[in-house]
Amino acid sequence: ESHEAVKRPRVLVTRQTPGESLQRLREVCEVEVWPETMPPSREELCRLVKGRHGLLTMLSDRIDGEMMEIAGDQLAVISNYAVGFNNIDVDAAKTRGIAVGNTPDVLTDATADLAVALLFAASRHVLPAGNQVREGEWKTWEPTGWLGVEPAGKTLGIVGMGRIGRATARRLVGGWGMNLLYTSRSDQAEVEKELGGRRVELDTLLAESDFVSVHVALTDETRNLIDAEAISKMKSTSVLVNTARGEIVDQDALVEALENRSIFGAGLDVTTPEPLSAEHPLVKSAHCVILPHIGSATHTSRNAMAEIAVDNLIAGLSGRPLRCSVT
Ligand code: DGY
Repeated sequence: ESHEAVKRPRVLVTRQTPGESLQRLREVCEVEVWPETMPPSREELCRLVKGRHGLLTMLSDRIDGEMMEIAGDQLAVISNYAVGFNNIDVDAAKTRGIAVGNTPDVLTDATADLAVALLFAASRHVLPAGNQVREGEWKTWEPTGWLGVEPAGKTLGIVGMGRIGRATARRLVGGWGMNLLYTSRSDQAEVEKELGGRRVELDTLLAESDFVSVHVALTDETRNLIDAEAISKMKSTSVLVNTARGEIVDQDALVEALENRSIFGAGLDVTTPEPLSAEHPLVKSAHCVILPHIGSATHTSRNAMAEIAVDNLIAGLSGRPLRCSVT
């Protein structure tokens, strides 16, 4: 029993997903769903993957070569419930002939919306100002209280002009008349036709942008891309937003920049690690807004992600091309 289709393949789903999509899976497979809110530990995951033909995984499950080895030769497909797949060793999967799927497109709008929300939250002190009200500390209207920065007519720097970068740019260029700079592996003629904008080196983008929003995938090349040196190039009035992966930004450097007021603020939906301790200086900073990785957390997106993840799994189990393959 190796990669050929088996009658009732055994699959593991590492968390309860929303909607009815798992029902479709149950019709054709033996499905075990990890029932807890907290992810299985590495040890538990090792035990659970054994003998499975397919895995439906979350970004918090690290699936490396060792895990694939433990699962066994019959493992045919890993379907990640996310667009990002840095938690999976794709090369190791390729070597073993294991298909790997992700869930692009359906979370693009939700994530771009959240990038914009973070941009405004960090620009206008939305959380600390709101907390002042909740804590009964709202004394009066202050001419110089809570002064923020505004994006209209300013320059937006999109680091990584993929689907989510483009959707974020579309909102801010269209809605707030921002000028666009972006980094990308290649010129994006279509984007420039739609939104204007100019592809530049990262250093130029950081130096010239008033708002910088990170949308690259996490790879060895992008790990710590926004490091101390990069942050030092940013304007003192600028705002940094990250809805991609925490590891792309050097958090110690960010703490320092916020403390020194060498940038205005930051809005993060992703951190290292996740969750980030409430004691972390970034969480304590009045100039940083942190959300618990909720970019794709809308009913529409999460349901659609589940449908794709199930489609990927079913296709992979029968040796057909995945609906959304990362390989
Ligand atoms: C992803 O899809 O990569 C997000 O991080 C979670 O939806």
